[in-house]
Amino acid sequence: MEPIDRRTALMLGGAGLLSTTVGGVGLWRTYNSLPLDVVSHQAFREPEQLRSRDGLLEVRLEAASGSHVVAGRKVTTLAYNGGLPGPTLRVKPGDTVRILLVNNLDQPTNLHVHGLHVSPEGNGDNVFLRVDPGQSFAYEHILRDDHPPGVYWYHPHLHGSVADQVFGGLYGAIVVEDDVIPEARDRVMVISDISLDSSGRVRAPSSMQMMMGREGDILLVNGQVAPVLQATTGERERWRVVNACTSRYLSLILENQQPELLGLDLGPLASPASEGRFLLAPGNRAEVIVTLQEGRGVLRAEPFDRGGMGNMMGGGLNTSIPQGGEVASIEVSGPAQNRPAADMPPPLEPRDLRGLPVAGTRTLSFEMDMAAGMMSSDGAGMGFTFDGAAFDPKRVDQNVSVGALEEWTIRNDSTLDHPFHLHVWPMQVIAQGGEPETSPQWRDVVNVPARSEVTVRIAFEDFAGTTVYHCHILDHEDRGMMGTVRVT
Ligand code: C2O
Ligand code: CU
Ligand code: CU
Repeated sequence: MEPIDRRTALMLGGAGLLSTTVGGVGLWRTYNSLPLDVVSHQAFREPEQLRSRDGLLEVRLEAASGSHVVAGRKVTTLAYNGGLPGPTLRVKPGDTVRILLVNNLDQPTNLHVHGLHVSPEGNGDNVFLRVDPGQSFAYEHILRDDHPPGVYWYHPHLHGSVADQVFGGLYGAIVVEDDVIPEARDRVMVISDISLDSSGRVRAPSSMQMMMGREGDILLVNGQVAPVLQATTGERERWRVVNACTSRYLSLILENQQPELLGLDLGPLASPASEGRFLLAPGNRAEVIVTLQEGRGVLRAEPFDRGGMGNMMGGGLNTSIPQGGEVASIEVSGPAQNRPAADMPPPLEPRDLRGLPVAGTRTLSFEMDMAAGMMSSDGAGMGFTFDGAAFDPKRVDQNVSVGALEEWTIRNDSTLDHPFHLHVWPMQVIAQGGEPETSPQWRDVVNVPARSEVTVRIAFEDFAGTTVYHCHILDHEDRGMMGTVRVT
């Protein structure tokens, strides 16, 4: 082990950061493969923002591998339009969004709009499509006038290569705006993780990492390591935080500031919660309001235990987090604003499906199975399925009638947590681990802890078509932990 030199210490973020990460072997074990010239604590920046006009947003998104600056260093990653993340798309309920996906990768891909309540058919949010290298495809999404506001995101969804392509850099945010909250500043934070080798290329995971779900050595916010936000005392900010990590859960706290959780995945919450901590499973998003107090605040990811492979595979995850968990920090200074932030509007009433008659109930079960893995196409490791059946795009797993209100119980008897995600139709969480929810909680990704279960209600309204549900640990999804639902 080399002693840490001063330059490295500075590059890693200076004494403040080191003092929070040194104190065990964690730093060196975590940073074995971290390129030493990663630059942290630069001024926070956001990707380019593309806004709809007169009800229409037309975007050309080119997926390509190339040389990009990530964490202050020239590296080779995948990217949309050369940016990590790709551009933020800002739209309104009722808008039409046309995305021309241009595939300049050396492999097939496609594009999914995660969380949007839009048609899964044709050139809509159709994950069964495949766009070959050199080809392009014109997607069109029509948002209903009552589409829930919130922060959503886009990423590739070609079964078998989703984890590699997202981990490699293909993701971006979608904001469905409302004009309900008078706030000073609206910021989008896309959190991702990545591992780079010494030549600056994305490092391939081991087969064990794929089974657990790969986690990167570097934690990024909008492609930066621990960026610094500048803000004014007394200002109100709205942060839209996306967990775009392939497998990493983010248990987030905002130190020295008082965040109010406005919504998770899609708004609104029954009432904003002054929660100290919020958990984002892969794919989840949070909207947070912060009224800033003078001083420094740190947005920090704390260790989260998402289980292990059980005894036979030996041990769980390394729970240390890159950069001591520092996601971003904020420096708040200046005279308190004369203009007090406008009062928050009264919270909107979220819809509540409890108490309504249910047309059908189903139980789905996440399964990890050694035997199924032995027979899998790569002949190794563990099988990842729902109900013992690996994903088959030609098989219909759930037949549902348009308009039906169903209650689904998602079971997990395995030793790992799995985040359950359904496309197109949001889910109201009814109970977690047998505990009923006391207020309406809407999600499009809901974590199902190891050896536990979650019950949700889904109103299969507005659209017909076939789509998927899956584990949002994308390595699990690629290995078969996905099923189809046909709504007719
Ligand atoms: Cu974020 Cu099916 O995916
Ligand atoms: Cu999705
Ligand atoms: Cu999983």
